[in-house]
Order: sequence, then C-alpha cells, then structure tokens
Amino acid sequence: MSSTDDHRDDTDLDPTEVASPRTGRGLMGGDLDRRVETSRVPPLAQARVLAPFRRDGDEEATRAFVAHRPLHIEIGFGRPHYLLDLAAAHPDAHVLGFEIKRRWVAAAADRSERLGLANVRVIEGDARPHLERLVPPGSAAGVHVLFPDPWWKKKHHKKRVFNSEFTALMARTVAPDGALYVKTDVEAYADLIVEELSAAGLSLAGSGTSDALLAALPRSHREKKCAEFNVPIHLFRFVHPSPLG
Ligand SMILES: C[S@@+](CC[C@H](N)C(=O)[O-])C[C@H]1O[C@@H](n2cnc3c(N)ncnc32)[C@H](O)[C@@H]1O
Repeated sequence: MSSTDDHRDDTDLDPTEVASPRTGRGLMGGDLDRRVETSRVPPLAQARVLAPFRRDGDEEATRAFVAHRPLHIEIGFGRPHYLLDLAAAHPDAHVLGFEIKRRWVAAAADRSERLGLANVRVIEGDARPHLERLVPPGSAAGVHVLFPDPWWKKKHHKKRVFNSEFTALMARTVAPDGALYVKTDVEAYADLIVEELSAAGLSLAGSGTSDALLAALPRSHREKKCAEFNVPIHLFRFVHPSPLG
C-alpha cells in the first residue's frame, strides 16, 4: 500500500484529525491483487497465519478453515481488538482476518495463540483476491468491515474499497441468512456505502446501536478512539433481501 498523504496506516486517532479532508485516515483501497503471489517476503511462520498461494499446503488449509460453519470474516482488522473479541464471543465459529500490515497480522497471530483462541486464522494481504479465490459464495455468517478508508481526495476516490466490484464480492460472500457489518466515522462515506451496497442487492437491515445485533458487536481499536474523543460513528447491518419481500 502506498503511503500517500491521503492514506495512513495507523489507527491511532488524534482529535484534531477526525474526519478532516486533509487527513484521510482509514482503510482500504489500491490495487493490491498482484501482491498475493508476487511478494518475495517469506510468509510469517506463526501457527495461526495462513499464507495461501505463498506456502505449500496453505491453500488447502485455508479452504478447510473456511468450510466450517459458522464463519466470520474481518477485512482490515488493524490492531486486532475486534478480531480477537469476536473470536472469543463465538467459540463455535471460525474467524478469518485479513490485514495488509504485517505487524498487525503478527500481533493477531501471537495474541490469539496466547489467549488460546484456536478458532482464529489470519492472512497477510489484500482480502479481495483471497475472498474471490478461496471463499465459496454464501459462506459467511458475518463479514465485518470497520472504518474503511474514505480516500478524501477526488483523484483518489477510485481507491475506495466500496466500489461496485467490492460490494458484489460482499453480496457473494455473505450467507443467505448472514450479514455484512460496516462501521465508519465519515458521514459522506457512510452515505456512499449504503448506496453502493443497495445497488449490489443487499438491504440495510439495521443501523446504529438501537439495532441489537450491532450493539452486541465488539469495538475495534478505532471505534474505541472515536468513543474516547466523542466522534460520532455510523453502524450498519446489511443482509440479503428476504425472498418473501
Ligand atoms: C483505519 S485501519 C482500521 C483498523 C480496524 N478495522 C479498526 O477499526 O481499528 C485500516 C486497516 O485496514 C487495512 N487494509 C486496508 N485495505 C485492506 C485490504 N484491501 N485488505 C486487508 N486489509 C486492508 C490497513 O492496512 C489498515 O490496517
């Protein structure tokens, strides 16, 4: 991921920087698909790290891991507060996390092992090509995308993850009775996310903490920072429309 002034990878929140078009903090974007197979950096040798396409046997191990039901997937977990709390809250589920930044992948693997969370696996890299190649349609009871990068500058809007390809991938990955959970602190991006997911055929089933399922979710690192600095956030739960309408 490039380190432009429009994208920073740290999830610490400075109250003077919240939702400012100059800061562009958040997640997602960029064309990272090719890194999956071309990275020359050896994969992390930690028990809970899967490195499909990069280490022999890991493609099969990933397919076996995602075949379990229920399955939860977090995209861009950063500091792994949410990932680990989700796994602890759902010991019956498999929880697969994707993150580009190696240090958070290593931290998630290390902490999940120390906490005895045997139901966690993490993959270093862009979630999108992995989901396309390894996760069958209708697999996930929950897909979780928390605080995606708004890419403030107009010339960078094409890097936003919530484009039509990604929303189609979300609609494909979420199980018929599953949900996509999205949180953001950027109002304009929240509107766009709702628009894009509706266009992809997902329905907004709940928003805000009045929705019991959203209220019951863990808090991500950035979300905790938002709470600390009284930054309003937007929470959404999207589902497939009911066949009965
Ligand atoms: C702003 S942070 C948010 C982290 C966490 N979700 C939170 O709420 O605290 C965004 C993280 O997503 C990661 N990321 C961005 N695009 C990604 C992608 N396509 N696949 C996986 N991770 C991604 C970044 O490396 C970064 O660590």
